[in-house]
Amino acid sequence: MKHLTSIANLSKADAIDILDRAEQMDVVRTNKTKLATLAGKTVANLFFEDSTRTRISFELAAKKLSAETINFASKGSSTSKGESLRDTVLTLEAMGVDAMVIRHQHSGAADYIANSSWSKVKVINAGDGTHQHPTQALLDSFTIRKHFAEKRVGTDLSGLRVLIVGDVLHSRVAKSNTELLNLLGAEVAFCAPRTLAPESISLSPNQTYNDLDLALENEFDVVMMLRLQLERMNSAFFPSQQEYSSLFQLNASRSKRLSKHTVVMHPGPMNRGLEIAESVADDDNSLILDQVSNGISVRMAVLDLLLANEGNS
Ligand code: CP
Repeated sequence: MKHLTSIANLSKADAIDILDRAEQMDVVRTNKTKLATLAGKTVANLFFEDSTRTRISFELAAKKLSAETINFASKGSSTSKGESLRDTVLTLEAMGVDAMVIRHQHSGAADYIANSSWSKVKVINAGDGTHQHPTQALLDSFTIRKHFAEKRVGTDLSGLRVLIVGDVLHSRVAKSNTELLNLLGAEVAFCAPRTLAPESISLSPNQTYNDLDLALENEFDVVMMLRLQLERMNSAFFPSQQEYSSLFQLNASRSKRLSKHTVVMHPGPMNRGLEIAESVADDDNSLILDQVSNGISVRMAVLDLLLANEGNS
């Protein structure tokens, strides 16, 4: 594997290999130790869009593997003077960067670099537009696999049922998660207002709900709430935020109806009080902070896979 730009480029064996490696990295992380596997390598975080979790966990992951790290944020850079993405990448590559973790507002930005003839840098997509966020999906599957370790039979997620709720249309997290969960054998259902359900999921009516109360009459192992991406909405997708919350928020009364074993996930950042109630986000069955912690282990695994055996593949 030279780059990680999309879940679509992974086979089931690749995905399980990353999750297995992440299990080993999880031991390193929880023991607060370090590995020397990336000593001498330099990893650059290029963030053209804001981030807290992804940027910081990639930086921590690289440091735990003994790599040098560089943080590039488009705000305050020569991007404001008109420097192109290509020239920014070439400039950092000339400084000796081995891998770039890139978040960009335009779908396809990571593939643009990875598929180019002008760059040799390894590319990890940290979220591009509404397209993909592969390491978020990997950390979500890792979190599910770890939590349901006793319920599972094999190393994949066969037999588990996941409900993805909310702004599916604008969500790169939903797209990456759907592809990975399907690859790993989980059953995926969706619940979204018709205006926020892309045609691809509306074509599977047996697995798509437009009413959260109706959806929750079924039993799910995981209810994955999505952030309402107001910044990507250039028209009205629902009459009001109050109406959205009353119909699609995972609130305390809906949460009480979940089975005892059902867990709640959210990739963050959360709009508390909009798609998820304050109390539900912090409840005992919430894995939201586990997702954050596990993100470091999964990103360590991805960096290690791409960079540690460089030259041997
Ligand atoms: N989940 C996620 O991508 O969060 P950040 O935007 O904070 O990185």
